[in-house]
Amino acid sequence: MLENPKLYISACVASSVDGVIHPANTTGYAQLGSKRDLGRLLDLRDQTDAIAVGAETFRTFPSRYRGAQGTLPVLVVITRGQNPLQDVPLASPVFSDLAAQRVTFIVTKQLPDVATQAQYPPCVRWVFASQASPVATVVHALEGHECHTLLVEGGGEIIALFAQAQALHTLYLTLTPFLLGGGSQGARHWMEGLGFSVETAPRLSLSLWSPHETPRGTEVLTTWQLTYPEDEL
Ligand SMILES: NC(=O)c1ccc[n+]([C@@H]2O[C@H](COP(=O)([O-])OP(=O)(O)OC[C@H]3O[C@@H](n4cnc5c(N)ncnc54)[C@H](OP(=O)(O)O)[C@@H]3O)[C@@H](O)[C@H]2O)c1
Repeated sequence: MLENPKLYISACVASSVDGVIHPANTTGYAQLGSKRDLGRLLDLRDQTDAIAVGAETFRTFPSRYRGAQGTLPVLVVITRGQNPLQDVPLASPVFSDLAAQRVTFIVTKQLPDVATQAQYPPCVRWVFASQASPVATVVHALEGHECHTLLVEGGGEIIALFAQAQALHTLYLTLTPFLLGGGSQGARHWMEGLGFSVETAPRLSLSLWSPHETPRGTEVLTTWQLTYPEDEL
């Protein structure tokens, strides 16, 4: 649990009704949500100071991480950093497209040598995360950069780290009209990680839901507020 964080942290993700964000036996990025879901994500980017993604999402989703209005929030990529040039590829449009460059923190458990760091654009700042969970390091780096809001865009391992640290306050979850299954075949869910017991699990309160029809079925945009068991004491 973080002590008095000043950063307000939300997550945004589109999943099948059974919680899958990446189907089994699929390579690359699978677009589950509709244009309306994408529009919500782009609007949220306009409203946030920073975006965080796990390195696996960064690798599979070649995005510029821009908002609808063209905003470029500070970007955080979280990696264990065993092989930096493969873990956080320079080919990403975040680095190769000059118009997409912005302050980018690469939070890693292993800092690369100076020669490797020099291959990345000057907008990249390497941050060493000494603890098992990088969440406190991310929060500290962003607060030091005058950020007040963070949008975690996934994937499931990274959302779980923020929930485990009791740092996640709002969840924008789009339920897309699919049942994908495949947990034993490599499908990824929007919350992976160590898991919780019913006693320790974050509690959710629905603050908004909006169903709409798409050519593929009914999609529901939901917004949830999270509290944690300690909050109830
Ligand atoms: N539908 C959606 O809305 C949506 C949204 C986001 C992502 N996705 C999809 O979900 C999939 C990725 O999700 P995911 O759960 O597999 O991966 P992820 O959460 O994006 O990233 C996992 C990576 O984060 C790093 N990491 C994990 N724990 C760490 C720790 N304690 N300290 C430091 N680094 C740590 C590791 O990077 P290294 O391997 O580099 O060490 C790990 O491989 C992709 O297919 C993506 O396209 C879908």
